[in-house]
Amino acid sequence: MATIRLGDTAPDFTAETSQGTLNFYEYLGEGWGILFSHPADFTPVCTTELGTAAKFKGEFDKRNVKMMALSVDGAASHAEWIKDINETQNTQINFPIIADEDRKVSDLYDMIHPNADDTLTVRSVFIVGPDKKIKLILTYPASTGRNFYELLRVVDSLQLTAYHKVATPANWESGEKVVVSPAIPTIEAREMFSKGVEEVKPYLRLTPDPTVS
Ligand code: BEZ
Repeated sequence: MATIRLGDTAPDFTAETSQGTLNFYEYLGEGWGILFSHPADFTPVCTTELGTAAKFKGEFDKRNVKMMALSVDGAASHAEWIKDINETQNTQINFPIIADEDRKVSDLYDMIHPNADDTLTVRSVFIVGPDKKIKLILTYPASTGRNFYELLRVVDSLQLTAYHKVATPANWESGEKVVVSPAIPTIEAREMFSKGVEEVKPYLRLTPDPTVS
């Protein structure tokens, strides 16, 4: 069984999905990706999560993030379930759902946690960068649906901190002040961030979000 950690290369795979056979890396192309697992088809929390994910697709598209879901049932089951999701959640599923009947991808990404459940996947989230490295891992139990606003928020943080020498503080939302990376001395930070640096403590320096004009 694989253990995947932050900074590891995301394992590539080719899998049956609700949109036909797809290769993960080819599907992602040069952009970002989010891979998230669901315990099983025709379950209530998963139904609401997938409907919500479909409604958020426009926001993920704006951030160049491709979505791919996974459930351990087959493609025919997914097709029937998608009809229910579209009907009950008033949406159209607009991204692929892996039909992981043989648990190939679930095992590759360690999505089955036997002490929680022998056969069903937990609610895993992996965010993959354009370099195919794992940028974020989240694990929720089957009983707790994920917060898609948080997933967007975390993508905003990952993308901002990938390109600027900053970190994002607790409860940060896009556009709010950010923290200067601890490795940068304040004197250098003042040259680097033209909008100014507020030194609360020598190790806690704030600057306006550098992407906001
Ligand atoms: C659900 O998606 O509703 C669910 C799936 C497995 C266990 C508990 C809830």
